[in-house]
Formats: sequence, C-alpha cells, structure tokens
Amino acid sequence: MKLLKKGAEADIFETKWQNSKAILKIRKTKNYRNPLLDSKIHKQRTIKESQVLSQVKQIGIPAPLIFFVDLKKSSIIMQQIPGKPIHDLPPSKIIPLTKEIGKLVGTMHKNGIMHGDLTTSNFILFKNIVYVIDFGLSQNTIKPEDHAVDLRLIKEILNSAHAKIMESAWKNFLSGYKSVVGNAKFSKITNLVSDIESRGRYATVV
Ligand SMILES: Nc1ncnc2c1ncn2[C@@H]1O[C@H](COP(=O)(O)OP(=O)(O)O)[C@@H](O)[C@H]1O
Ligand SMILES: [Mg+2]
Repeated sequence: MKLLKKGAEADIFETKWQNSKAILKIRKTKNYRNPLLDSKIHKQRTIKESQVLSQVKQIGIPAPLIFFVDLKKSSIIMQQIPGKPIHDLPPSKIIPLTKEIGKLVGTMHKNGIMHGDLTTSNFILFKNIVYVIDFGLSQNTIKPEDHAVDLRLIKEILNSAHAKIMESAWKNFLSGYKSVVGNAKFSKITNLVSDIESRGRYATVV
C-alpha cells in the first residue's frame, strides 16, 4: 500500500476497494498519550468521522463515500477524491473558491453540524466541485458559540497560510456563509467571532 500523506493525526494510504481507488485513513498512536485513552479517542473520532461523512451528504455537501469502517484498527476506507486540496492551489484560484467554502460551512451550521477542523487542507477541489473531508473533530451542535469557533479557525488559517489573499478570501467566505445562514444568524456568529478575538488579544497581553 502506498503512503499518500502523513496527516496531523492520521496516516493516509492509497488502496483499492472492489475496483475503485480508495483511501485508507488510519489514526496513529501518539506516544505521549496513555494507550487506553489513545485508543478510546481514536475509536470516538473514527465513529464520528464516518457518521458525519454520511450525514453531510444528505444535506448536499459533497464528501467521500464510506466503503468500510474498522473500529478495532481505527481505520476508515473511503472513496478517493482525486483532486487537489484548496490549500495547494494558486492564490488566484483560492480567492473565488472561498465563497463556495463559506456556503458549505453555512450549510453545515444551518443543519447543526460543526466541522471542528476548518483548514484549507480539508477541502478538495475535483472537477469544479469542492468536497469536504476530515470530520473526526466534528460535533452535532446548534450552539452559536461552537459555530463561531469554526469561523475563527478558518479565519486564522486564511491569515496564516494564505496571508497575501486574506482580505478578499475572508470577504468571499463571509459572503458565501451569509447567503446560506441569513442576516440574523450571520450577525450573531460574526459578533461572537469578534468576542473570541478580543478575548484572545486580552489573553496575550496579560
Ligand atoms: N478521501 C480522500 N480523497 C483524497 N485525499 C484525501 C482523502 N482523505 C484524505 N486525503 C488527503 O490526506 C490528507 C490528510 O487527511 P485528513 O483526513 O485531513 O487527516 P488529518 O486528520 O490527519 O488531517 C488530506 O489533507 C488530503 O490531502
Ligand atoms: Mg486534515
């Protein structure tokens, strides 16, 4: 099996399922963690990821199909999306796609799903469609504070990984998000994002 990526918390291999190219995502053991706790966390995230991967497809979010889940090994075999992570695209391509990302995030939030790890590596562009992956940290929640945490993270990622295009990318993201969630929720969440940011600044000063 070919190792494709060493992710933050999992190894990604290219494999086959029946005749289709597939991805094997297997969560790796962290040496600094207690082994029992480690396997519990892995199991939880594997269950969550496979549940939410199927859930989001029902609300119109493009996401890989699940082929097989092995809870003992904390592994998932899923459809390979043979595109490119948004993170790796040239800036001129990323800017317009951030509006689509905003719409996708808005759709998840409107349906009570927080992604939990909104980085530009967790969106893959394939044949003009943006797919969402990596749902291991997602939660079923309608709490505005949780949704604000999602927005805060993607803003931080745009700021750090895509600093040159941050302004237009964030503007587009917000316009896509607003078009799905509506004005009232939009104001509520963006105000909470500002709250988090001001707390963050205060914390670093002290
Ligand atoms: N279904 C998939 N199709 C194509 N590439 C994938 C798929 N799943 C993961 N990858 C690739 O592997 C990387 C890491 O996978 P990910 O699920 O995000 O794990 P991690 O939790 O370690 O970030 C992704 O950024 C993407 O490049
Ligand atoms: Mg990831």
